[in-house]
Amino acid sequence: MVEFREIQRISRSLPTLEGAGVKLKRAFGYSDVRLLDPFLLLDDFHSEDPDDYRAGFPWHPHRGIETVTYVLKGMVEHGDSIGNKGVIRSGDVQWMTAGSGIIHQEMPKGSRGLMWGFQLWVNLPSSYKMTEPRYREIRNVEIPEVQVQPGVTIKVIRGNVEENRGPVLDLVVDCEYLDVTMEPNTVLEHPIMKTHRVFAYVTDGQGYFSSERTRLIESEQLVVFGDGDQVKISTSDTSLRYLLISGQPLGEPVAWRGPIVMNTQEELDHAFAELDQGTFLKHVKSSQKQTSPSYSYYTQ
Ligand code: CO
Repeated sequence: MVEFREIQRISRSLPTLEGAGVKLKRAFGYSDVRLLDPFLLLDDFHSEDPDDYRAGFPWHPHRGIETVTYVLKGMVEHGDSIGNKGVIRSGDVQWMTAGSGIIHQEMPKGSRGLMWGFQLWVNLPSSYKMTEPRYREIRNVEIPEVQVQPGVTIKVIRGNVEENRGPVLDLVVDCEYLDVTMEPNTVLEHPIMKTHRVFAYVTDGQGYFSSERTRLIESEQLVVFGDGDQVKISTSDTSLRYLLISGQPLGEPVAWRGPIVMNTQEELDHAFAELDQGTFLKHVKSSQKQTSPSYSYYTQ
């Protein structure tokens, strides 16, 4: 018998100032580590005013995590201190494994003023915190868009929907990342690994996220699901779009300061000491020069 996952918590994303002065909305973060393990943070940057995002996220480090940037509108220019660079455009995803450490910058550029995207942080288990940094640049056209039934379409960024496999492979932390669009008066029943933690973040419209349809959830609200093996999501007379994300919890201690997430305070102190001493980057090829841009400790 199917056991539907019911709603465990509903919250609303909160205005947050990040980077060099970017106005964004945080769906969850520092205080939600236990509830959302293996996920650490979800930011929604959505504005039609370039003053809200122009300052961007200049040079800053990361260690011990993955950052997943999904751009819906506009673009984000990315570069790191050992010469990797690229542009994440509308519909693209960058799945970055910071691992042992990177120092990078992320600069949002709108399209006719409009900028909209998300950044998710996925924690890494202790055995992979110091792994070699890795970038996966996924273009919009590589992401399967599956119509699972009339009026319900799923963009499969990571995971499997019916016979369609998302383009992000070889991850350390097992997870699923879907962008779901539902027309009015539709229902989606989607199986999710029983052991996974699951949340949905509504990006547009309204809908129901429990089998009982007791409460209408709207844009910029986060739903964290309880135990079970399927989610049941439905609409009434309006359409709905949301990110549906699940992952296998790590169950490890979390020591988190700004952009670095380790297991112990000692590892954190060590990382920040290495930043001060210019020995932070571990996987620098001999042909690459470790530059030392001045950086700040933004969360992102
Ligand atoms: Co960053």
